[in-house]
Amino acid sequence: MVFPFREEVMVNIDELLAQRKALFEEFLATYFSGLDMQSGIVRSCLYSISAGGKRLRPILVMLACEALGGTGKQALEAGLAIEMIHTFSLVHDDLPAIDNDDLRRGQPSCHKQFGEATAILAGDALIFMALEVISCADYVPDTKLDIIRAIADMCGYNGLVQGEYEDIMAEGRLLAPSEIEKIYYKKTAKLFELCMYCGGRIAHGDDKQLYALTQYGRNFGLAFQVIDDILDVTSSGHGLGKTAGKDIVQDKATLVKALDIEQSKAYAKDKTNKAIVSIADIDSDSAKILQDLAMTMLDRVI
Ligand code: IPE
Ligand code: IPE
Ligand code: MG
Ligand code: MG
Ligand code: MG
Repeated sequence: MVFPFREEVMVNIDELLAQRKALFEEFLATYFSGLDMQSGIVRSCLYSISAGGKRLRPILVMLACEALGGTGKQALEAGLAIEMIHTFSLVHDDLPAIDNDDLRRGQPSCHKQFGEATAILAGDALIFMALEVISCADYVPDTKLDIIRAIADMCGYNGLVQGEYEDIMAEGRLLAPSEIEKIYYKKTAKLFELCMYCGGRIAHGDDKQLYALTQYGRNFGLAFQVIDDILDVTSSGHGLGKTAGKDIVQDKATLVKALDIEQSKAYAKDKTNKAIVSIADIDSDSAKILQDLAMTMLDRVI
């Protein structure tokens, strides 16, 4: 497998990502400092969203925006909204009725800390917070409406929520790799696509540019989910911040189950390469950081 663009990134990728992450953390803290901490719902939302995490999705929104000539700062509201949606999906994914995981981002998962009812409601609240953040953002009305439409499209009954449903329904079944890929796309990759779309839209990208960015998001998201599934099998749990080995216990329909580890790694490499190639025509430093970011994720399992 050849990754032709990698050597062009001369700067330290960790530092470049850390800069964007720091900007996001500050924005997140400022947002929550304006909310009522007497509220148990607000406290449980803050607990789960501030627990840490790679902040990959807001970083993607920022880099997509920068890649088309915008700034990372302009992308912060969309990044925060998507991180809220991502956190809702994690809080609900960990519930006993879904994946039943006691550990998330290195601390007790939301329902372990606050009880199931609060965790369900905290997840619900995070969705509406996301809509509020976009509605109040400093974007022109057309962009706001389009982002809200894209959120509904990518995260709802035909997106993330549907993917989570299919993931649960597929437990204990042996699915063909193509069927598993459809689930990965909905439960994980559509959110990555959304990040790239929002970043590009805020920077007023044209259709061709938005297509390139969303193809990157789709392929990177597919690679990301299989990498997560590989780590679930191969990692001891330390550093993951969540319980390892759960997919086998729950007999999840993963590519690792349908294929094997080596074939799953080959799939991850192929999708990573496709992500990198998708944005090869976008001539900017941030596009190169996006390419290197996809490689960095692959490095976790190669
Ligand atoms: C976990 O996502 C959920 C999956 C799609 C596999 P991340 O691995 O990005 O979780 P955080 O945000 O870093 O905690
Ligand atoms: C979850 O996939 C994707 C979501 C939409 C939350 P996983 O169930 O594999 O994610 P982890 O391993 O619990 O983070
Ligand atoms: Mg799950
Ligand atoms: Mg899970
Ligand atoms: Mg997993």
